[in-house]
Amino acid sequence: MQVQVVQTSPFEGQRPGTSGLRKKVRVFQQPRYLENFVQSTFDAVQPPSGATIVVGGDGRFFNREAMQSIIRLSAANGIGRLIIGRGGILSTPAVSNQIRTRGAFGGFILSASHNPAGPDEDFGIKYNMANGGPAPEPVTERIHACTMRISEYRTTDTPDVELDRTGRLSVGAMEIEIVDPVADYAACMERLFDFDKIRALFQSGFKMRFDAMNAVTGPYAIEILEARLGAAEGTVVRGIPLADFGGAHPDPNLVHAHSLVEEMFGAGAPDLGAASDGDGDRNMILGRGTYVGPGDSLAILAAHAALVPGYSSGLKGVARSMVTSGAVDRVADAFGIEHYSTPTGWKFFGNLLDAGLISLCGEESFGTGSDHVREKDGLWAVLFWLNILAASGESVLSIQRSHWRRFGRNYFTRHDYEGLSSAMAEQIIGAVTKQIQNPAPDLRLQRAFEFDYTDPVDRTKSSGQGYCFHFDEQARVVFRLSGTGTEGATLRAYIERYEPPEGELDLDPQAALATLIHCSRALAGMDRLGISLPSTIT
Ligand code: G1P
Ligand code: ZN
Repeated sequence: MQVQVVQTSPFEGQRPGTSGLRKKVRVFQQPRYLENFVQSTFDAVQPPSGATIVVGGDGRFFNREAMQSIIRLSAANGIGRLIIGRGGILSTPAVSNQIRTRGAFGGFILSASHNPAGPDEDFGIKYNMANGGPAPEPVTERIHACTMRISEYRTTDTPDVELDRTGRLSVGAMEIEIVDPVADYAACMERLFDFDKIRALFQSGFKMRFDAMNAVTGPYAIEILEARLGAAEGTVVRGIPLADFGGAHPDPNLVHAHSLVEEMFGAGAPDLGAASDGDGDRNMILGRGTYVGPGDSLAILAAHAALVPGYSSGLKGVARSMVTSGAVDRVADAFGIEHYSTPTGWKFFGNLLDAGLISLCGEESFGTGSDHVREKDGLWAVLFWLNILAASGESVLSIQRSHWRRFGRNYFTRHDYEGLSSAMAEQIIGAVTKQIQNPAPDLRLQRAFEFDYTDPVDRTKSSGQGYCFHFDEQARVVFRLSGTGTEGATLRAYIERYEPPEGELDLDPQAALATLIHCSRALAGMDRLGISLPSTIT
């Protein structure tokens, strides 16, 4: 059956180059809107007839309706087999893992990551390739082009499919496998980490809190942490994925996971605290009375990789996004391995991972991952920490402190100015660009430039990936505009300063970075433009 499509591209109003669609649910509910994206994706990637496609989502509002629509379009487009998580649920790293282990041609992920969910909130969809990673730019550009010239989509008029029971079904000639969303992912984790050691750690009385934030990681964390590793029942809180995430903003950071932060800094805090986001790819790590920033977390994982079975043979290399603190670079230098710095967005790690150049990578936005899948992976990072704690017998705080004493500390903070009008964002970028072309002498800049990246594997160039201001070898401010927001513009200021091992290592980052924070506002002309304090500080 063919349906006429007469409408503008679903990408309308979204920054080009983003790897999927992210819009308000109401926008997705428009007739033929989602269908345009899905058909255009099939047109762009041309799955061979009989291909296997994985489909999973974070369970947010509209997940099930979207799933049914994808099922019908897949059947009409000659897809041979769909692998779907029971209840329409699969975390983003679990989709990546399914695509890879089942040799699928690709997959759809239904999520708007950490953005709130519900009828008035956000929904999203993106396409991942056979390597399990987000579609690279040439493919997303092709999808975008197809959405502009599409005139009809193919679908069937078959009834909705029962998603809540594992097993096999069919829609026309297409087979559907409804799989346990956790099983294959948990098996992958068992291959990488020393489950026996972690089990012994929990048996010895080690206490942990995992906040699933009413989003997708609940079932994964309950099965892996409580059922397989023996963490006490109730270790996982907010463990049932809710269609509106319980009204919460499932972004694991100091602002949105505040109840976890309070518990970890309060009396009787457990030994380890962790949280993950809406679709399970982000993570936040806390110890009793301490917080581990994502840049430090990546560096600490790299420094202790020898303790973890999946990485004990040595790291090939490491990568971080340019805006992330350089803590991991120092570990790489000490180990004599390569380190890379990429533009923001996980897709840039894909080529490095596929080419075998790196084993670990991460972003300051609470994303950490490795070559086991092609997405960042929240629970994986938590298990990596558990493995290190179990194998070393140390506390989170003592691991952190000895890391700083060995490598020095990269004080880091990100200041977000959210909900700016586009006119305001333009003025700020104008001010920042002016400083790059003609830096004010009183700022005593050493170097100011826009970050351009050439992919070391395929030599693709990505320009304009951030405005960088280096004050000396050890301090910098970087600005960029967010590409993921759905309302207004967001300016992010990334602020970092290195303190050597013999320096002051226990300062509060906001205090340690006070002068640089002041410089960041001066560079962007914030006071002149009447922009008050940042809306989010992480
Ligand atoms: C944000 C993060 C970025 C991450 C992306 C997707 O993008 O900053 O590191 O890869 O979400 O999770 P931004 O809004 O900054 O463009
Ligand atoms: Zn996410």
